[in-house]
This record gives sequence, C-alpha cells and structure tokens, in this order.
Amino acid sequence: VRQLPLRFIGFAGSLRAGSYNRSLLRAAGELLPEDVEMETFDIEGIPLYNDDLLKEAPSRVRLFKDRIRASDAVLIVTPEYNYSIPRVLKNAIDWASRPYADNALAGKPVAVMSASTGMLGGARAQYHLRQSFVYLDMHPINKPEVIVTYAAKKFVDGRLTDEKTREKVIALLATLRDWTIRLGTKPS
Ligand SMILES: Cc1cc2nc3c(=O)[nH]c(=O)nc-3n(C[C@H](O)[C@H](O)[C@H](O)COP(=O)(O)O)c2cc1C
Repeated sequence: VRQLPLRFIGFAGSLRAGSYNRSLLRAAGELLPEDVEMETFDIEGIPLYNDDLLKEAPSRVRLFKDRIRASDAVLIVTPEYNYSIPRVLKNAIDWASRPYADNALAGKPVAVMSASTGMLGGARAQYHLRQSFVYLDMHPINKPEVIVTYAAKKFVDGRLTDEKTREKVIALLATLRDWTIRLGTKPS
C-alpha cells in the first residue's frame, strides 16, 4: 500500500533557462494535490550514454536513479525536437534504464506533458515517448493529455498564466495520484 504523501519526481527535457517546458514543470509543482510532494530533477550534467561507463556509473546518473527509486511516480515534461523527444531527455532515460536488470523506471506510473511554440504542442514527441514506455515497462496515464500549443502566449515571465492549461495540469496531477494509488504496492 502506498504511503501518503505520495512522492513524484519530475524532470524536463530542455536545458535552457527560459524553457517553456521547465516553466510548465515549475507550474506543476505549484498545482499538486494536497497529499503529493514533487521533487524536480535537473538532467543537466548527465554525460552521453556509453555502455563502457556502466560498471561505475557517473555520480549524476547514480543520483538520478536513486531519486527515481525514492519516488512513487514520474512526471516528464518534454519539448518536441524534429517530431521526437530531445536527445538530452532520451539520454537521461537511457541511463536510468540500464543495466537491464537495474532499470530504475520499471514499474513506475508516469505522466507526460509537452509545450511547444507551434500549433501541435509537442504531441508527436509525447507519442514517441509513450512508445519507449513499453520497453521501459512503465505505466502511463492515458488522459488528460496536456499538450501546450503556442507556448509563447501562455507563459508570462516563466509563469504559466493560461487558466485552461492550469486546470488541465491540475487534472493530470490528480489522475497520476489516483493511478499510482490504484496500482498499489511499490515495485521492488
Ligand atoms: C532542434 C529543434 C527542433 C524542433 N522541432 C520541433 C518540432 O518538431 N515540433 C515543434 O512543435 N517544435 C519544434 N521545435 C520548437 C520547440 O518547440 C521550441 O523551441 C520550444 O520552445 C522548445 O522547448 P523549451 O522552450 O522547453 O526549450 C524545435 C526546436 C529545436 C531547437
């Protein structure tokens, strides 16, 4: 049985300071259900994946995996790069999933949000990421889908000001909370 408060870990697939996706993750931190806490992890500093480094994984990777393990569920906020997810995000996920027998993401409930300056809001990146959830053995929520289109109009000085989007984020976080409880015991 899950202990309350639940602990989410959130990370964003953009490194730039003014990132809409980082801002969206920050907004999520302010819109959590009462009995949920979220830690955000900055994937900056995770080196490029290399099997040769696995024996003694880089310290940033070890910390990332530890923090994932300490969490009940995962929130990923991603931009769309060329119809897919940015390499920095894929790289972080690849590290967290290895070695094969030590995949920190396996069994975790997960939700995704995306923001893009374009009219499709990063939807295609979300579906690419969802494909990876199969092999990662993660358990995504299906709805609501938080796809933030025309992001430049929805944030002011890094704050999510669009009321409809804020409501969707609240609904997504509540759904991830309920889903996590429904899935029951933590995977070992
Ligand atoms: C290499 C690159 C590829 C991009 N490809 C897409 C794309 O396929 N679809 C899209 O909607 N936006 C695309 N964009 C625009 C991003 O959505 C936009 O830069 C967004 O602000 C990035 O997210 P961030 O603000 O969190 O850094 C691309 C941007 C970059 C730098």
